[in-house]
Parts: sequence; structure tokens; C-alpha cells
Amino acid sequence: MSAATDPQRMPDAAFWRGRRVFLTGHTGFKGAWLTLWLQSMGAEVTGYSLAPPSDPNLFTLARVAEGITHLSGDVRQLDALRTAMIAARPDVVLHLAAQSLVRRSYAEPVDTYATNVMGTVNLLEALRSVDSARAAVLVTSDKCYENREWIWGYREHDAMGGHDPYSNSKGCAELVTSAMRRSFFGQPGACAIASARAGNVIGGGDWAQDRLLPDAMRAFSRGEALVVRSPGAIRPWQHVVEPLRGYLLLAEALEREPAAHADGWNFGPEDADCRSVREVVDLTQSHWAGAQVIYDPPPDAPHEAHFLKLDCTRAHTALNWQPRWRLADGVARTVEWYLAHAAGADMRDVTLGQLAAYRGTGS
Ligand SMILES: NC(=O)c1ccc[n+]([C@@H]2O[C@H](COP(=O)([O-])OP(=O)(O)OC[C@H]3O[C@@H](n4cnc5c(N)ncnc54)[C@H](O)[C@@H]3O)[C@@H](O)[C@H]2O)c1
Repeated sequence: MSAATDPQRMPDAAFWRGRRVFLTGHTGFKGAWLTLWLQSMGAEVTGYSLAPPSDPNLFTLARVAEGITHLSGDVRQLDALRTAMIAARPDVVLHLAAQSLVRRSYAEPVDTYATNVMGTVNLLEALRSVDSARAAVLVTSDKCYENREWIWGYREHDAMGGHDPYSNSKGCAELVTSAMRRSFFGQPGACAIASARAGNVIGGGDWAQDRLLPDAMRAFSRGEALVVRSPGAIRPWQHVVEPLRGYLLLAEALEREPAAHADGWNFGPEDADCRSVREVVDLTQSHWAGAQVIYDPPPDAPHEAHFLKLDCTRAHTALNWQPRWRLADGVARTVEWYLAHAAGADMRDVTLGQLAAYRGTGS
């Protein structure tokens, strides 16, 4: 099968070799994985972010700063962001920096909007000062859609919305991206801009609060019971490498055929991997000897939108992007990662090893 028709196509390492990439959010969970992946393909990465959002964190454990230009910076500060981007002279811009937690967005709505909405405005404004960039992928979320609580998958042109400040900030970021693309990036040769919408991701190196797998790994590694609040909630689970592969394939396609790809894209799991919290907990428990779980749904939990499914037909057909690691593989790899961490392994080696296994270049 040729790379062009492989439904589980991998990013083209030859495309990325020597390519200058400006990446925001590189100290975060997804950004750290993405930086290592880009490094392993020979890209020249400049990362621009605040400090890692948790302690411990993947960025530090996997020594992600090694071999890249690591900048501490705030996307809310336009001048600093523009100066950094101009200096980096990027070919590709990948924007992942965000206040990424729903629960925190209830406690800090202003900061959430400042980072997720004005951060996006600032990123695109900075991009206007850079003539080297050919492709930009801005990461939002499946939560950007107006959730009608219906059974069908959401398509890329469905309405933006969002009930809580986080989800709504991502819907707003989408609208900002669309308006700025049409206003400032329409001329031939301008940077082609796409947005990417993925759902819950799992994987090693995530220590965020209020995410199921990090909560489970924290509890199990301390020998404590995991308390599960919403066992019946259905979520679209996927391993972090799946949407990251989508972002990379999308950036390649933007450069190849800008007009056909400068738009919104969904990257979600297969229907069969949209499973209940309880099923994922069972799978996780099966990989961790002695893991204890207590089910305790609270009566007054803040509203969190019900299951929202993405229709990924566009990514399947136009990018040859289809999930490669299914839920069972993703959970197994995630637990394997945390067990290696608990055993004192070199987490850069472990993370690069998992990436190589995923790419089919390792075990
Ligand atoms: N993890 C998920 O399940 C998930 C699901 C859907 C979408 N997303 C989106 O993917 C992206 C990455 O998510 P993640 O899980 O890696 O998040 P994360 O919280 O682990 O990392 C966030 C990153 O953004 C940086 N950041 C935060 N505020 C900043 C600011 N003002 N200026 C500069 N940098 C700032 C942090 O330093 C960090 O590098 C985010 O846009 C998030 O909304 C994540």
C-alpha cells in the first residue's frame, strides 16, 4: 500500500526534516509529546509557553527542552509573542497553548478567555508579521461545538457554542480563526490556517486534575483507591498520539494544497471507542495489579456537557487519517508508561520508544 492510500498513514519524516516549527504549549501534555515527535523526525522546534502546568510533568521528565529552542512566554502578550515568532522564522506554526481544563474555567473564566481567545487573536496577529510560514494548525477541542445532546456526530460546519467557559472559549477561538483567516490570510502565498478539534486524550505524562487517567495513575501509584464520580458518562477516548498525527498530516496537507485544507478538521476515535468511564476504569485496573476503585457520583457536580461525538469523515477521506491505536492499546500504553515511571525508568527513552512503536519504527 502506498503512503498516499494507507488509511493509517504516518507523517512524512522527509517533510519535517529541517523544517522550522513554532509550537506553543510545548511544556504541556500534548505539546511535549508533539515536540518529541517533531524532534525525532529532525524538525527544528521553537517552543513558546508558560511553565509546565503540573508537577511532575512530561516536559521535565522527558527532557523535552533538549535539542529545541525553549522560550518561556505568554500568548496573552502580543509583543513578546510576535518578537519570538519573527525570530524563529517558522515554516509551520502549531498552536496548542491553552487553559485546558473545564473545571478550572469555572473558577477562572477571565483567564480562560484571555488565554484561549485573545491568545488565538495574538497568535494570528503575530503570524501576520511572518512571511516564512506556509501552514498553521490551531488546536481547539471537540467541545467547541454547540452541544445539542443528539446522537449524531458533529461535522466541521456545525454551529460553534460551548456551555462552560472552557468549551465556549474554544468555540470563540474557532470563530476568531475563521474571521482572521478570511480577513488577513486570503491572498495567494499567505499562510494557510486550519483548526483541529479532538476530544479527550489519554497517554503517559499527563498529571492534569480532573482527568480520569491522571487521577487513576495518581491514586494507584500511591496505593490509594480511585474515586470515580461519573461512571456512566460516555467519552470519546483516544491516545494522545492519534490527534497529534492528525495535526502533523494536516500541516503537510496545508502546505501541499492550501485552499483545500485551510478550514476546520475533526479528529476523534471510532464509534466503538466511545465508551463509558466505567469501561475505561475496568481496562485500566486490569493492567495495574491491586488497583482499587470506589464509585461515588456526587449529586451537585457542575454541568459538564454530555457525550459529544465527532464525525471524522473528512479526516478519513482527505487526510487518510484513521485511528491506529484503539482504546485497548491506548490504555495499555498509558499504564505501561506510568508503571515505567514508577519503576524509575528514563522517561525520555520510554516516550520516544512508544512513539517509535506507534510509528512502526520500534517495538
Ligand atoms: N488533553 C485533552 O484531553 C484535550 C482535549 C481536547 C483539546 N485539548 C487542547 O489541546 C491543547 C493542549 O492540551 P494539553 O492537554 O496539552 O494541555 P496542558 O494543560 O497540558 O498544556 C497547556 C500548555 O499551554 C501553555 N499555556 C497555558 N497558558 C498559556 C499562556 N497564557 N501563554 C503561553 N502558554 C500557555 C502551558 O504552559 C502548557 O504548555 C489545548 O489547546 C487543549 O485545549 C486537549
